[in-house]
Amino acid sequence: MKILVTGAAGFIGMHTSEVLLARGDEVVGLDNLNDYYDPQLKLDRLARLTPHPAFRFVKLDVADRAGMERIFAEEKFDRVIHLAAQAGVRYSLQNPHAYVDSNLVGFINVLEGCRHSKVQHLVYASSSSVYGGNTKMPFSEHDSVDHPVSLYAATKKANELMAHTYSHLYGLPTTGLRFFTVYGPWGRPDMALFLFTKAILEGLPIDVFNHGKMKRDFTYIDDIVQGVIRTLDHVAESDPAFNPLQPDPGRSAAPYRVFNIGNHDPVELMSFIDAIEEAVGRKAEKNFLPMQDGDVPATYADTTELNAWTGFAPATSVKKGVQRFIGWYRSYYGL
Ligand SMILES: NC(=O)c1ccc[n+]([C@@H]2O[C@H](COP(=O)([O-])OP(=O)(O)OC[C@H]3O[C@@H](n4cnc5c(N)ncnc54)[C@H](O)[C@@H]3O)[C@@H](O)[C@H]2O)c1
Repeated sequence: MKILVTGAAGFIGMHTSEVLLARGDEVVGLDNLNDYYDPQLKLDRLARLTPHPAFRFVKLDVADRAGMERIFAEEKFDRVIHLAAQAGVRYSLQNPHAYVDSNLVGFINVLEGCRHSKVQHLVYASSSSVYGGNTKMPFSEHDSVDHPVSLYAATKKANELMAHTYSHLYGLPTTGLRFFTVYGPWGRPDMALFLFTKAILEGLPIDVFNHGKMKRDFTYIDDIVQGVIRTLDHVAESDPAFNPLQPDPGRSAAPYRVFNIGNHDPVELMSFIDAIEEAVGRKAEKNFLPMQDGDVPATYADTTELNAWTGFAPATSVKKGVQRFIGWYRSYYGL
């Protein structure tokens, strides 16, 4: 298949593209290589993809309407994996407009491109943050997600709503994946694992928010990629049993699905830090701080639906995953 992967120079995009190429798909990778974090890391990720004859890179902003129209018209993709977005909860309090541009304007450009070029299936990144203020655990696709607590979360929820209209109006099969704290080699420098590892190795203190009383359903990158590709291969279908008298938020009469993609095994932040300390071989100096605005105390994915639909079954323990990250970090930075 010919697949467009947006955000291909990003953490999840690079790993996903690698596996698609390895199984014989043709991949067009799109990214604007912005400087939200070190662009060199993005270039180094890309350098793993560019030697592959079935890979081509296009430097483009998803918010560039004319550019996006052109690429969809010229390339005629079979399927699309849309991962490009302004990520990060905390940064959405500082620079809200970046989220509107990349996540809302960018998303309508992707939907329009898919609609006009008759893409067979659009798989796009949503986020566990759509669960916002919900405290019912584990988080289920059948729960309402109408109480976001950050603009980032609101843009991801908006993506799900926008996708639904295109599935309904134009029969475009769409599947949203709500990622739960993804980690692993080539991971993002703004996320806890990267920040903690860097600080510990530099002998600096780490900031531990909510005094360490946080739980996250940390999900290893290889498990995520397996889930993304299985989802790509299972084109969303309409649910004939959908009942508009009692609408289930996770189902639709349109070819539209949303799934949690998480480890289904939340870990206390302090245990996660223990795993990092063990892998690095040093203790962290901890700076205990209150909860940050926009953050939530816990995430926990119910993955029954994705498992039933695709056979998704995450298999990597936090201990093993953290060790692999630290191994990559040391070799990438020569430490
Ligand atoms: N990593 C996680 O834990 C996590 C959790 C929930 C959701 N997500 C979502 O998954 C997707 C991928 O996340 P990631 O961790 O790989 O992030 P990432 O920042 O490493 O990757 C995103 C890529 O998209 C590119 N990009 C951003 N805005 C763009 C634009 N306007 N035009 C073109 N390219 C643009 C960036 O340059 C980057 O390379 C994002 O949509 C993110 O919101 C990630």
